[in-house]
Amino acid sequence: MEKKRMDWSALMAFGMVIMALGASLSDAEISCTEALRSLIPCTPFLVGFGSSAPNVVCCIGVQHVFEQANTTATHRDLCQCFQNAASQIGALPERVKELPQFCNIHVTLPLDANVNCSRIK
Ligand SMILES: *[C@@H]1O[C@H](CO)[C@@H](O)[C@H](O)[C@H]1NC(C)=O
Ligand SMILES: *[C@@H]1O[C@H](CO)[C@@H](O)[C@H](O)[C@H]1NC(C)=O
Repeated sequence: MEKKRMDWSALMAFGMVIMALGASLSDAEISCTEALRSLIPCTPFLVGFGSSAPNVVCCIGVQHVFEQANTTATHRDLCQCFQNAASQIGALPERVKELPQFCNIHVTLPLDANVNCSRIK
Protein backbone atom coordinates (compact mmCIF):
# COMPACT_ATOMS: atom_id res chain seq x y z
CA MET A 1 0.00 0.00 0.00
CA GLU A 2 2.72 2.41 1.05
CA LYS A 3 4.75 1.48 -2.01
CA LYS A 4 1.82 2.11 -4.37
CA ARG A 5 1.27 5.57 -2.98
CA MET A 6 4.93 6.42 -3.50
CA ASP A 7 4.85 5.30 -7.13
CA TRP A 8 1.80 7.41 -7.70
CA SER A 9 3.36 10.55 -6.28
CA ALA A 10 6.46 9.89 -8.35
CA LEU A 11 4.29 9.76 -11.46
CA MET A 12 2.62 13.02 -10.49
CA ALA A 13 6.03 14.61 -10.05
CA PHE A 14 7.08 13.23 -13.41
CA GLY A 15 4.06 14.87 -15.01
CA MET A 16 5.08 18.19 -13.58
CA VAL A 17 8.64 17.76 -14.81
CA ILE A 18 7.35 17.05 -18.30
CA MET A 19 5.13 20.12 -18.24
CA ALA A 20 8.01 22.23 -17.00
CA LEU A 21 10.21 20.97 -19.81
CA GLY A 22 7.46 21.88 -22.23
CA ALA A 23 8.49 22.75 -25.75
CA SER A 24 12.10 21.73 -25.26
CA LEU A 25 10.99 18.08 -25.46
CA SER A 26 10.18 18.40 -29.12
CA ASP A 27 13.79 19.17 -30.05
CA ALA A 28 15.57 16.24 -31.65
CA GLU A 29 18.84 16.98 -29.87
CA ILE A 30 19.11 17.66 -26.18
CA SER A 31 21.17 20.48 -24.73
CA CYS A 32 23.32 20.33 -21.62
CA THR A 33 20.87 22.50 -19.68
CA GLU A 34 17.91 20.34 -20.68
CA ALA A 35 19.75 17.17 -19.80
CA LEU A 36 20.75 18.47 -16.39
CA ARG A 37 17.22 19.65 -15.72
CA SER A 38 15.94 16.13 -16.40
CA LEU A 39 18.52 14.74 -14.02
CA ILE A 40 17.84 17.04 -11.06
CA PRO A 41 15.83 14.31 -9.27
CA CYS A 42 18.99 12.16 -9.35
CA THR A 43 21.01 14.63 -7.30
CA PRO A 44 20.41 13.10 -3.83
CA PHE A 45 21.45 9.69 -5.10
CA LEU A 46 24.48 11.03 -6.96
CA VAL A 47 25.89 12.97 -4.02
CA GLY A 48 25.21 10.07 -1.63
CA PHE A 49 22.49 11.84 0.34
CA GLY A 50 19.75 9.58 1.65
CA SER A 51 18.61 6.62 -0.41
CA SER A 52 21.03 4.10 -1.85
CA ALA A 53 19.08 3.83 -5.12
CA PRO A 54 17.83 6.48 -7.55
CA ASN A 55 14.10 7.27 -7.47
CA VAL A 56 11.61 6.65 -10.29
CA VAL A 57 11.56 10.26 -11.44
CA CYS A 58 15.34 10.23 -11.71
CA CYS A 59 15.33 7.09 -13.84
CA ILE A 60 12.66 8.50 -16.14
CA GLY A 61 14.87 11.56 -16.56
CA VAL A 62 17.89 9.40 -17.39
CA GLN A 63 15.90 7.48 -19.96
CA HIS A 64 14.60 10.69 -21.50
CA VAL A 65 18.10 12.14 -21.81
CA PHE A 66 19.58 9.07 -23.48
CA GLU A 67 16.65 8.61 -25.84
CA GLN A 68 17.33 12.11 -27.13
CA ALA A 69 21.09 11.74 -27.34
CA ASN A 70 21.60 9.65 -30.45
CA THR A 71 24.45 11.34 -32.29
CA THR A 72 28.18 11.32 -31.60
CA ALA A 73 28.26 15.11 -31.29
CA THR A 74 25.52 15.01 -28.66
CA HIS A 75 27.27 12.20 -26.80
CA ARG A 76 30.47 14.22 -26.64
CA ASP A 77 28.67 17.34 -25.50
CA LEU A 78 26.71 15.48 -22.85
CA CYS A 79 29.81 13.65 -21.69
CA GLN A 80 31.55 16.96 -21.06
CA CYS A 81 28.38 18.44 -19.60
CA PHE A 82 27.99 15.57 -17.11
CA GLN A 83 31.65 15.61 -16.11
CA ASN A 84 31.47 19.33 -15.33
CA ALA A 85 28.16 19.04 -13.51
CA ALA A 86 29.26 15.97 -11.53
CA SER A 87 32.32 17.74 -10.20
CA GLN A 88 30.32 20.90 -9.46
CA ILE A 89 27.72 19.12 -7.33
CA GLY A 90 30.32 16.80 -5.80
CA ALA A 91 28.77 13.63 -7.19
CA LEU A 92 30.29 10.32 -6.15
CA PRO A 93 32.03 8.85 -9.24
CA GLU A 94 30.83 5.28 -8.57
CA ARG A 95 27.23 6.43 -8.32
CA VAL A 96 27.45 8.40 -11.56
CA LYS A 97 28.87 5.35 -13.28
CA GLU A 98 26.27 2.99 -11.82
CA LEU A 99 23.25 5.20 -12.39
CA PRO A 100 22.17 3.52 -15.68
CA GLN A 101 22.45 0.04 -14.14
CA PHE A 102 20.37 1.10 -11.15
CA CYS A 103 17.72 2.43 -13.53
CA ASN A 104 18.04 -0.65 -15.72
CA ILE A 105 18.77 1.49 -18.77
CA HIS A 106 21.40 0.65 -21.33
CA VAL A 107 23.46 3.69 -22.27
CA THR A 108 26.19 3.86 -24.86
CA LEU A 109 27.77 6.90 -23.26
CA PRO A 110 30.44 6.21 -20.63
CA LEU A 111 29.55 8.09 -17.44
CA ASP A 112 33.08 8.16 -16.18
CA ALA A 113 35.06 11.14 -14.94
CA ASN A 114 38.24 9.70 -16.47
CA VAL A 115 36.92 9.34 -20.00
CA ASN A 116 38.23 11.75 -22.64
CA CYS A 117 34.95 13.01 -24.05
CA SER A 118 36.43 14.09 -27.37
CA ARG A 119 37.34 10.45 -28.10
CA ILE A 120 33.76 9.17 -27.92
CA LYS A 121 32.72 7.57 -31.16
C1 LIG B 1 17.39 11.15 -32.59
O1 LIG B 1 16.24 11.05 -31.79
C2 LIG B 1 15.29 12.05 -32.07
C3 LIG B 1 14.21 11.97 -31.00
O2 LIG B 1 13.81 10.65 -30.78
C4 LIG B 1 14.77 11.85 -33.49
O3 LIG B 1 13.81 12.84 -33.78
C5 LIG B 1 15.93 11.96 -34.44
O4 LIG B 1 15.49 11.68 -35.74
C6 LIG B 1 17.04 10.99 -34.06
N1 LIG B 1 18.20 11.24 -34.88
C7 LIG B 1 18.96 10.27 -35.34
C8 LIG B 1 20.17 10.71 -36.10
O5 LIG B 1 18.70 9.08 -35.15
C1 LIG C 1 41.47 13.96 -25.54
O1 LIG C 1 41.59 13.43 -26.83
C2 LIG C 1 41.92 14.42 -27.81
C3 LIG C 1 41.88 13.76 -29.18
O2 LIG C 1 42.48 12.49 -29.18
C4 LIG C 1 43.28 15.02 -27.47
O3 LIG C 1 43.62 16.00 -28.41
C5 LIG C 1 43.20 15.66 -26.09
O4 LIG C 1 44.47 16.14 -25.71
C6 LIG C 1 42.73 14.65 -25.07
N1 LIG C 1 42.50 15.33 -23.79
C7 LIG C 1 42.89 14.83 -22.63
C8 LIG C 1 42.54 15.64 -21.43
O5 LIG C 1 43.50 13.78 -22.53
